[in-house]
Amino acid sequence: DKVISVGLMGLGTVGRGVYRILKDNSAGIEQKVGARVEIKKILVREPAKNRGIDLREDMLTANVGDIVENPEIDLVVEVMGGINPAFEYSMMALKKGKSLVTANKDMIALHGKELFEAADENNADVLFEASVAGGIPIIRPLKECLAANRIRQVIGIINGTTNYMLTRMTKESLDFEQVLKEAQALGYAEADPSADVEGYDAARKLAILSSIAFNTRVPLNKVFVEGITGITAEDIIYANELNYVIKLLGIAKETDEGIEVRVHPALLPKHHPLASVNDVYNAIFIRGDAVGDVMFYGRGAGEMPTASAVVADVMNAARNLLRNVPGIISCTCFEEKPVKPMGSTSTK
Ligand code: NAP
Ligand code: HSE
Repeated sequence: DKVISVGLMGLGTVGRGVYRILKDNSAGIEQKVGARVEIKKILVREPAKNRGIDLREDMLTANVGDIVENPEIDLVVEVMGGINPAFEYSMMALKKGKSLVTANKDMIALHGKELFEAADENNADVLFEASVAGGIPIIRPLKECLAANRIRQVIGIINGTTNYMLTRMTKESLDFEQVLKEAQALGYAEADPSADVEGYDAARKLAILSSIAFNTRVPLNKVFVEGITGITAEDIIYANELNYVIKLLGIAKETDEGIEVRVHPALLPKHHPLASVNDVYNAIFIRGDAVGDVMFYGRGAGEMPTASAVVADVMNAARNLLRNVPGIISCTCFEEKPVKPMGSTSTK
């Protein structure tokens, strides 16, 4: 019996979903991969904490060495969040030749280059489908299925927390603090929710998407960012009276002065296809020179949708391991391109 052993780093909202899918759908996953995919060890801060799920007693550890130094672990899933120690631990795993699956857009947007290079040098894969738009397949479709196109523009609602908040504020006239608390309770928000409401989470995702779309590296500090903290109930009411909705958009397009990348609230006419994307749903609209317009839609955050993308990456990495071709999914062939200066940016 073939087994692929996984080291899971993080057992919060997304980690629990990954654990559940690998357990509940194990038979189908085994059939599609050609081996059983089993979690061997899970890294957490507090192994003694009651997690409310049925875990083997020796599964939890607070020692990263139990995962990255463990010869029995074939691949590592990082769903801890933040830059360090997530980046440090991910590099340790890659340097040991273990493929890495991550949902961490902060880490990919800031340190993607180092991770991809370490993966190439050590014949490992780095897969990050869940880092943008939760459960929506977007990284692989953009990188692979749309590869033949010259991409003209990418426009999207790419933060579930703020879209949920704006929807609730519009439909129920609820206030900002109340709806933010709801989004946190539902597991949509980042550990520091200011990343959501100030637009930085969307900016990280846009840096990743635009880097892939334009086959370059868009640095995070070149993305213009404005969040939704300045949006008031009055703004929403007036927009509604004029037949508009307010959405936090990420926009990336080619211009004569370079690639334009910006995140900010925008007024959309109610008939616009993105205007009816509500609650935690995200949507990404892509225009390619050959394909024309395509749109991707689905749940942009939350336990199970995000875990769906993570586990699909795990299955891909597992198949590559079984065929003895880890490292085949390279992310390092980029070309330098200018990014248009856009004023106010931040890398918070
Ligand atoms: P979370 O609920 O805060 O869970 C984080 C987990 O990582 C916890 O189990 C925590 O351990 C563990 N952890 C954190 N720092 C650690 C450290 N220094 N050492 C050991 N363990 C550590 O986070 P989440 O919402 O699942 O998000 C995880 C990642 O997925 C983030 O990068 C996030 O941006 C990304 N993501 C999240 C969503 C979503 O909807 N939530 C969607 C897409 C992507 P303890 O349990 O012991 O505290
Ligand atoms: N906090 C993020 C969001 C999680 O609300 O979109 C998904 O990346």
